[in-house]
Amino acid sequence: MRPGPLRFGWLRPVGLILAAPLIAGALWSCGSTPATPSLAPEPPATGSTPSGSGPISTLRMVAGNRLIGTAVALPQLQTDTGYQEVLAREFNAVTPENALKWGPVEPAQGTFDWSGADEIVAFAQAHGQKVRGHTLVWHNQLPGWLSGGTFTSAQLGEILKNHIATEVGRYAGKIYAWDVVNEPFADDGTWRDTIWLRGLGQGYVADALRWARAADPIAKLYINDYDNEGINAKSDAMYELVKSLKAQGVPLDGVGIQAHYDLAKPFPSDIAANLRRFADLGLEVAFTELDARFQLPATESALAQQATYYGQTVSACLAVSACVGVTVWGFTDKYSWVPFSFPGEGAACLYDENLVPKAAYGAVLAALTARTP
Ligand code: XIL
Repeated sequence: MRPGPLRFGWLRPVGLILAAPLIAGALWSCGSTPATPSLAPEPPATGSTPSGSGPISTLRMVAGNRLIGTAVALPQLQTDTGYQEVLAREFNAVTPENALKWGPVEPAQGTFDWSGADEIVAFAQAHGQKVRGHTLVWHNQLPGWLSGGTFTSAQLGEILKNHIATEVGRYAGKIYAWDVVNEPFADDGTWRDTIWLRGLGQGYVADALRWARAADPIAKLYINDYDNEGINAKSDAMYELVKSLKAQGVPLDGVGIQAHYDLAKPFPSDIAANLRRFADLGLEVAFTELDARFQLPATESALAQQATYYGQTVSACLAVSACVGVTVWGFTDKYSWVPFSFPGEGAACLYDENLVPKAAYGAVLAALTARTP
């Protein structure tokens, strides 16, 4: 099935890319008053303005050929013009935060709903942004008919194959990379006990990758997980899996590192070494869901620490040529998933709830600006 006409009548023709320096300058100098003090440092000038009063960079302006992306969700994309403006101005890639997950996409077996994903893809296309597809094989956000159903191994395999073929095929040529398999490992690095592992065995990963490749020969195919930023039991498990898949000739292009940081834990010191070992297998790597949460209320020192986590992650990526870029898991505290999933924690994003850039934004901008072209 091919896509129907994409609906984006709500999209305002903002011409944001051309207007970016002006808008950014206005935001920095006279943005709405934040509820908490903004710790954003002076942004670096783009070259000809030693006083800092001239053109201002945006993240995508200084990202070169690296991706600087963000997760995007409805309904804020449809209703919040301030959100739309920052999204278009700052980011050159988007990941639908929920709209491509199994639950929303195939709520009844064989019945597909593309409406949410189509809106996000249309916005991305209108603003020159790549799209990361997230995600095809996961244990969460499954529809009830699937998670509560009883299937033979053969039936489950057919269900998975059909889902992947339909979803990847529909967006072939529109989605640059897919998180084909998400979170296959438990926190100790053993295989996560999921409906896929129980029903299909470990071979579900290779099968899913092959089915995705058959549906789109061009898209980059990833395995994605969290708590695998540095070298540890979980990233070791990922390393052994992808090494074995590559040795078998399974189509696999990249490893996704979510990077949902908790400031109560130290920043991993060996990220670059971890990235390099995957690169040495001939894979690309990407940070796919970056955020940095902490116990509220926000303090200046927490926001400063958060800025170092963001900045160091971007710098680690830039230091390894196989690292294609960094995606943040939402750019504003206004809509972040964190307070819902980690009660009492929050303020994990680059922008505060008033869409004012925080110190973390300045750290990412500075890291990107310092990149070697
Ligand atoms: C989260 C979304 O941000 C929430 O809106 C949703 O309610 C639950 O899922 N790892 C992932 C993402 O791979 O898909 C998750 O996204 C966050 C953790």
